[in-house]
Amino acid sequence: MPRQAKSAAAEVRSLREEIERHNYLYYVLDRPEIPDSEYDAKMRRLQKLEAAHPQLADPASPTQRVGAAPREGFGKVLHSVPMLSLDNAMSREETAEFEARIRRFLNHTGPIAYVAEHKLDGVAVELVYEKGLFVQGSTRGDGTTGEDVTANLRTIRSVPLRLRAARSRGLPERLEIRGEVILSKRGFAQVNAQQVERGEPEFMNPRNATGGSLRQLDSRVTASRPIEMFCHSSASLEGLHVSTHWEFLDLCRGLGLRTDRANRRCASLDEVFAYYEATEAKREELPHEIDGVVVKVDSLELQRRLGERDRSPRWAIAWKFKPRQAATRVLDIWPSVGRTGVITPIAALEPRNIGGVTVSNASLHNMDEVERKDIRIGDEVLVERAGDVIPYVLRSFPEKRTGKERKFHMPSACPRCGGRVRREPGEVYYRCLNVACPTKLEGGIKHFAGKHAMDIDGLGDKLVHQLVETGLVKDLAGLYHLELDALVDLERMGEKSARNLLARIERSKQTTLDRLLNGLSIRHVGEATAKALADHFGDIEKVLAAEPDDLLEIRDVGPEVARAIAEFFAEPRNRQQVRRLLDAGVRPAWQPRRGGKLAGKRFLFTGGLAAMSRHEAQARVERLGGAVATSVSKNVDFVVAGEEAGSKLKKARDLGIEMLSEQRFLDLVGDA
Ligand code: IVH
Repeated sequence: MPRQAKSAAAEVRSLREEIERHNYLYYVLDRPEIPDSEYDAKMRRLQKLEAAHPQLADPASPTQRVGAAPREGFGKVLHSVPMLSLDNAMSREETAEFEARIRRFLNHTGPIAYVAEHKLDGVAVELVYEKGLFVQGSTRGDGTTGEDVTANLRTIRSVPLRLRAARSRGLPERLEIRGEVILSKRGFAQVNAQQVERGEPEFMNPRNATGGSLRQLDSRVTASRPIEMFCHSSASLEGLHVSTHWEFLDLCRGLGLRTDRANRRCASLDEVFAYYEATEAKREELPHEIDGVVVKVDSLELQRRLGERDRSPRWAIAWKFKPRQAATRVLDIWPSVGRTGVITPIAALEPRNIGGVTVSNASLHNMDEVERKDIRIGDEVLVERAGDVIPYVLRSFPEKRTGKERKFHMPSACPRCGGRVRREPGEVYYRCLNVACPTKLEGGIKHFAGKHAMDIDGLGDKLVHQLVETGLVKDLAGLYHLELDALVDLERMGEKSARNLLARIERSKQTTLDRLLNGLSIRHVGEATAKALADHFGDIEKVLAAEPDDLLEIRDVGPEVARAIAEFFAEPRNRQQVRRLLDAGVRPAWQPRRGGKLAGKRFLFTGGLAAMSRHEAQARVERLGGAVATSVSKNVDFVVAGEEAGSKLKKARDLGIEMLSEQRFLDLVGDA
């Protein structure tokens, strides 16, 4: 093997081990040791090495989670042991009855220990490991036969592609682990925001969105969604050397499989009661949806003796929370305009208390949903509330109609500005086409002022509405021209709060490039993409000068996102808006995340280098905070001309870009 390839093999091996270890620290132990940026850098380095040395490819490499091209359909998987469901208990009494049944069945009077767990509201799956390698994953299906979703499960970082060796010694060659795939509340909001931006229908709740993500024929789509996996059971515990469920969970963690940290061992039913109450009390604050508590007999010996009945085990029960649903009446349906101009039908409801919160509005999502569910003004409907999610209407009851109900029609003019409303072909959403629609401006201002953008506290809905209504603010830059006198004339605005607001607006001028970019409401550009843009360009002027091809070089920016960004900056109004922000004194600074002396500098390589591969040269530039371009443009700072440099060299000369010989390049990067 040539020397270079040999050292690459060693580096690839150690990077894979390191990355898997960091996955384990992050997902299983919840104790990350390095910042995300460092993790990303390792991942990128591994990707580059693997691309340069295809002979080192390994399907269990952590890079192999990006998803594969679409498939025709899902194969069927026969579960070797049926995937059971759980009996439900709806009250403390029914849970006590569960224990009483166990005692009668076993004729057992001694103590019974349990494990209490959250009942995760997701999609049940099975993972099969052979000799420690993840070989197949499937959905529950009807319990006997599920669908083969291996390619999609591979994209989930909390699903180890290889089990940790230390603990798998002496275990059966084939392990069938079961668990729940879920989306956190935050992940759900992200997925739905993406759906809206793409003009595709929103998901009703995190469970539907998880199911939709797992059943993607194109696993690249799954890879783009922040779904997670928690392990909670196994097809068979034979050969695992554990005698309790609690030990089984511990074994899972040792193997690198993620389990829910909320699991508790309870010495008695009383402890289970306390767990249930504590869990219900903090349900709203949990990062993901749960719909109850699962109570499992801890002893595997008792579990074995109890066995199962009617496709559910006698040793476990799902103690459900009160459903957060209620029947109510649709008083009206009105069109609501959002920040991107999307018009959503909203149902005004007869107020109902659902799980402690008064619900008086529900999103109907889009016209297809309104028609599919046949929801009319005056209808009695079933409404559900899930976590922080906007309540939604599950169904109508057409059989209860009196004949006075009316259908809702989407207006052809924007309810706010009268602008033309259109439904783009292939989209489910209607949008207001007026670029100056005040509602879009209000939404844009609120987003601009948001925590992850310019972070201007105090710009609430009512104030922003007034600022736009009165014409005090006509675009984002208008915020920076507000004056005290005009502000104090607004409703509910005293001099003190006006001064405070102005001070906060002033302070926001000193910001960072990613915040500014995030604040501009560019389609498909959220926090993460804004950071990637900032890392790549380092300077707002370079962003403004970017060519569509430059954008495609950025990690995580695909053609659709690149197009949206290019379209945004091609629009003169948007460019002027950025200019006005800069003229008003907004100063977006940028410190490249990895720091380094080449920060913000862009290199282009042409021709071969004598001392190292192109990939290695690129890695060195990136380690020093620079970026590498693949085509010549005025955004390139240096062209490194190797042997037999081609046509790019001439073009670069014509543009007056600085040339570096290989030697000068090596002097610059040293042995980074
Ligand atoms: S144990 C036979 N534990 O609830 C026991 N299930 O109807 C098998 N679920 O589809 C499952 N959280 O996927 C178990 N902590 C948990 C769970 C859980 C959610 C799901 C499970 C199954 C359904 C039971």
